[in-house]
Amino acid sequence: MTHTWYYVRIMASIFSRFISKPSPSVLGIDIGGSSVKIVQLKKENGIAVLETYGQLSLGPYGDKEVGQAVNLPAETIAENLKDLIREANVTTNSAGIAISFNKTLLTTVSLPRKEGKELQTMINLEARKYIPVPVSEVQLDWFVIPDEEGKEKERNMKVLLVAVHNEALTHLERIVDRAALAVSFYEIEIFSSIRAVVDEPTKPVMVIDIGAATTKVYIVQRGLVARSHSISRGGQNVTKALTQASSLGFAKAEQLKRDEGISETAPKPYNKDSVTLTYSSIFAEARRVLREFETKEKKVVTQVILTGGGGVTKKLKEYAGNFFDTNVTLADPFQKTDAPAFMRPVLQEIGPEFAVAVGVALRKLEEI
Ligand SMILES: Nc1ncnc2c1ncn2[C@@H]1O[C@H](COP(=O)(O)OP(=O)(O)OP(=O)(O)O)[C@@H](O)[C@H]1O
Ligand SMILES: [Mg+2]
Repeated sequence: MTHTWYYVRIMASIFSRFISKPSPSVLGIDIGGSSVKIVQLKKENGIAVLETYGQLSLGPYGDKEVGQAVNLPAETIAENLKDLIREANVTTNSAGIAISFNKTLLTTVSLPRKEGKELQTMINLEARKYIPVPVSEVQLDWFVIPDEEGKEKERNMKVLLVAVHNEALTHLERIVDRAALAVSFYEIEIFSSIRAVVDEPTKPVMVIDIGAATTKVYIVQRGLVARSHSISRGGQNVTKALTQASSLGFAKAEQLKRDEGISETAPKPYNKDSVTLTYSSIFAEARRVLREFETKEKKVVTQVILTGGGGVTKKLKEYAGNFFDTNVTLADPFQKTDAPAFMRPVLQEIGPEFAVAVGVALRKLEEI
């Protein structure tokens, strides 16, 4: 397997070498469609300290390019993960792992108020109506959404139903097994991102996670997911459009996209329209979700947070600002961790890509 240095971004474990009795370290893992991301943290005086992180593209492990989404067997993904763990100097196998949103179903339902066993029975029955596959094929979980303070209690209660395909879990278990990791939880990626990037405690916030083949859009309110939506376009569609406009191959077009982002001045073969085509359709669709929410719930979304590898695109925040009346920001998940000051600029730049992995690692740290 060959890959050049820029496929992996590594920070050596600067701190651990100087400390004689290190506290246990933990690993957050995000297996995306186009690359695997990992973040190692440890707790020091109650603070999450960043020890190392890394990202390794899956494309080259499946005869595809960097930036392309691939469907690979568990064994191949485990090879990638092991390479990444080695190259990033990871020193622990104690980990948590994210489940891809596309393998899950989240839905909010309104049900009569019940408790205990009665509630469990009702949910098992109700779930069948909302889940398009046999209930035996999924792991089902649910949360009763607490009543809003200061609002009149409605007759029914709201329940968030969460279903995860058994197949997706088995796939992850095989990867974890092959990579000899000790994983204590599997968490749907949007919950991980929320922990890492949403600070607003009460007002609604929209997160847009631009991945390679898909974009995940969700609205978070009081720490809960009020809407979630998947768009079947992402960064690889941007690169594909640029290959057509520029006559470059995928790898060169990918590099051009990363170098220039959204630019008014970049020379040919860069082509701004082909770059903005996908982003604009993603933002237009996200805006529809946002408006539907605002109209139905009579609430205002106070912030849009861009995350995922697509969120690293230069000038994307400014471009997204044209689509939303509200404040648009870039995710900065590493802000939740302690790291050397000289690393800050780079951590801020690449942060959006690592939101899920940071969120998983932060949860794992809570176990210590
Ligand atoms: N600097 C950059 N500028 C523009 N796009 C970038 C940059 N870095 C990465 N990307 C794009 O981000 C995309 C990958 O994002 P990400 O790593 O979040 O996806 P993923 O997690 O593998 O996929 P998914 O979340 O859909 O499973 C690719 O299309 C890649 O081209
Ligand atoms: Mg992702």
